[in-house]
Amino acid sequence: MSSASHSAEVAVVILAAGLGTRMKSSMAKVLHPIVGKPLIAHVLKAAAGLNAQKTVLVLGHQADRVAEAVKEFGAEVAIQAQQLGTGHAVMQAEKALEGFTGDVVILSGDVPLIRKKTIVHLVAHHEKTGNALTMMTAMLDDATGYGRVVKDAAGRLLRVVEHKDATEEERAIREINTGIYCFKASFLFSHLKTLGNTNAQGEYYLPDLIAMAVEKGLGADTVAADEVEEVMGINNRVELAEAERLMRRRINEYWMREGVTFVAPEVTYVEDEVTLGKDVVLSPGCVLQGKTVVGDGSVIGPYSRVIDTRLGNNVEVLDGCVIEESEIEDGCHVGPFAHIRPATILRKNARIGNFVEVKKSEIGEGSKANHLTYIGDAVLGKKVNIGAGTITCNYDGVHKHKTVIEDDVFVGSDTQLVAPVTVGRGALIAAGTTVTKDVPADSLAVSRTRQENKDGWAARKRKKHA
Ligand code: UD1
Ligand code: CA
Repeated sequence: MSSASHSAEVAVVILAAGLGTRMKSSMAKVLHPIVGKPLIAHVLKAAAGLNAQKTVLVLGHQADRVAEAVKEFGAEVAIQAQQLGTGHAVMQAEKALEGFTGDVVILSGDVPLIRKKTIVHLVAHHEKTGNALTMMTAMLDDATGYGRVVKDAAGRLLRVVEHKDATEEERAIREINTGIYCFKASFLFSHLKTLGNTNAQGEYYLPDLIAMAVEKGLGADTVAADEVEEVMGINNRVELAEAERLMRRRINEYWMREGVTFVAPEVTYVEDEVTLGKDVVLSPGCVLQGKTVVGDGSVIGPYSRVIDTRLGNNVEVLDGCVIEESEIEDGCHVGPFAHIRPATILRKNARIGNFVEVKKSEIGEGSKANHLTYIGDAVLGKKVNIGAGTITCNYDGVHKHKTVIEDDVFVGSDTQLVAPVTVGRGALIAAGTTVTKDVPADSLAVSRTRQENKDGWAARKRKKHA
């Protein structure tokens, strides 16, 4: 049912069958990432906001790999076995859209900076005019390579001419086709079949539909992209790097406006599913990836990388840390040069210091391991102090074993804990001890041989060698 207040149904078709020869890569162009995600995933993400009835990906080169990389979006795949042109590519989506009578938005898999609101604007304009098609265009200083938008003296849209087919006069036109359109499904699928391929590239050109709609008086119009950046197509790795920079800047500026300080935004890398709290400070060289969450007031030091980790409020991460798939509660200190490996939990106010590696362990509230330590497969209670050079020997060459250290234990420096082992609450382990059996609560464990001092021995030796 449709009415004036109820807009038409929308379907999305994303063209991504090409290899992208100019990338000089063995990997399909749309799989190359910017800010940690394949180009095509950015397009799918922008399109996801449209609540489209259906999204169809037209794939060809490495179709299986591309489909696998973006399966979370649930788009339907249409295969274009041979790349005979953009018009031919859209034709491959016809079957998937059988019976669909709304508006078809066409996007390119290699135009990753496009924003949802820009597509929404295109669709709104299209629906308002009731035209057969609406094309998004942009004004470029250097339009080389793009299809040019040809208009008559009165400024009415006539057609698009591809760079390779254009005359010198047409090549002087600065308005270009962005490759983003909205079509009435009925017009699109009835006219695609009538496209010819007698042109410089011998391809079926989708933009040739514009001249058809104009000639038949079915209505064709343009909307201008707000930002030229958004419609930038990626054809080589110089453009890939530029898109990466622009996307990173977009994300970083969003967070700055939300109350995050970036000391050096140009060299701070934040992926788009990261969440940052108020008064977070990100130092130069920070890399925040995946679904990382950083709580209010937390500070990440220079050149630290945090992946899929939840950091609480007022956490301090110093320089050069790697933190993966872990949970760091409020007030913790990490680093410098600490490695927190997956499945670690640092409870409130815990401290993990220089050259400490923690794996799959829970460090209790207020507990500390400040220097040169390996803690793996361990559970530490509250206020445990781990001395420098302590190692949990968790691996016997075949199996991993657990170390349990209860509240208020003091572990002296250079201790080895041969797991499985439990150190009872309040126990003290003397420096240099190799713990091979459980230590009862409140006791002292010492496993080293008693020291002997030989009076004058060193002096005698020196004299002998002099
Ligand atoms: C296209 C437009 C041009 C426009 C430009 C904007 C045509 C004929 N030209 O040119 O007017 O200015 O985009 O970026 O449409 N693809 C397929 N199958 C094919 C051919 C292409 O899936 O057979 C896909 C590509 O993988 C790519 C997209 O369509 O994602 C655009 O194709 P591309 O060859 O890059 O077109 P352009 O020459 O850039
Ligand atoms: Ca292109």
